[in-house]
Amino acid sequence: MAITVKARHPALGAEIRGIDMTRPVDAETVRRVHDAWMKHLVVVFPDQKITDQQHVAFTRHFGEPEIFHQTSLSLRSDRVKEIFLVSNVDENDRLMTPAAPSQKQLSSARQWHTDSSYRPMPSVGSLLHGIEISRTGGITQFINMYKVYEDLPEGLRRQVEGRKARHDFGNLHRITGAPAPTAAEQAAMPAVWHPLVRRHPVSGRKSLYISSIYNDSVEGLGEEASRRLIEELSAFAAQPQYMYRHVWEPHDVLMWDNRCTVHAVTPHDPLERRVMHRTTIVGSEPVIAA
Ligand SMILES: [Fe+2]
Repeated sequence: MAITVKARHPALGAEIRGIDMTRPVDAETVRRVHDAWMKHLVVVFPDQKITDQQHVAFTRHFGEPEIFHQTSLSLRSDRVKEIFLVSNVDENDRLMTPAAPSQKQLSSARQWHTDSSYRPMPSVGSLLHGIEISRTGGITQFINMYKVYEDLPEGLRRQVEGRKARHDFGNLHRITGAPAPTAAEQAAMPAVWHPLVRRHPVSGRKSLYISSIYNDSVEGLGEEASRRLIEELSAFAAQPQYMYRHVWEPHDVLMWDNRCTVHAVTPHDPLERRVMHRTTIVGSEPVIAA
C-alpha cells in the first residue's frame, strides 16, 4: 500500500491516508506507519469502517492488546475482550446517564492523563475508533510531552529531575465518585512508581511523564504538595503550542503514543450518543528513567 502522511499541527498529530484496515497490511506499510507514528506521536486514519476484530488485528501489528483488568463497571466489551468501551451507550444499545458508575469513571478522561500508566509496564499506545462521534464536544486533545519537557521552566525542571510519581488505578474512584474497584481488582493492580522524566525506548528522547488522574503522590512531597506539583505541570503542558485537538469524524481511527503524550477529552452533551472503541497496546518494558 502507498501511504501519505500529512501533519495536522506543528507540535504533533498527522493524518495517514492509503491504509485500509479491513484488509491485511504488509510489513513494509506497517514499518512506514510506525515511522510516521514515532515522528508525529498521534496519527489519524480517516474513514476506517472496521469491525472490532479488524481493530484488534490492526493493533497487533504494533504489540499485544491489553485486556482491561476491571470488569465490575462493564467498560470492557463482553463481545471482544481486547476492546475497552469509551462510550455512553452500553452493549445493549441503551444510553447511560452521567450518574451511571461507568460514566463517572470515564469522566476522569476530561483530565490530562496517559492510558494504563498505573501498570508496572505502562502502555505503549492506544487506538481509538470513533463509531458514533459527538458534535457538541468530545474533542480529544493531545500534548507533546517531549516539547513540554524541553521547555519546562527551571523551577519545575528542578522538581521533576530524578524524581518519581506514584500511579494508582484506585485513585480514579476518589476523583470521580465512581465505585471503588473490587478487592480482587485492587489486588491485581497495586500502585506503582514511575520516573517523572522518562526516556523513550524508540526515539531516545526525554519527556515529562505524568498522568494526573492516577498520580496521587510524588516522591518526597506530602499529599497537598504532590497534588499542586502535578496540577502545575499539567497546566504548563496544556498550552496551545504543544497541543493537537482532534475533532472527530465518523470512523476515524486515532493512534497515539502513551509514552510521550498525554490526552484529555472535552465535555459533550450527555444526551448525545458517543460510541468509541479502544484497544490499548501493553507495555513491553518498565519506564526508563532519564
Ligand atoms: Fe485515555
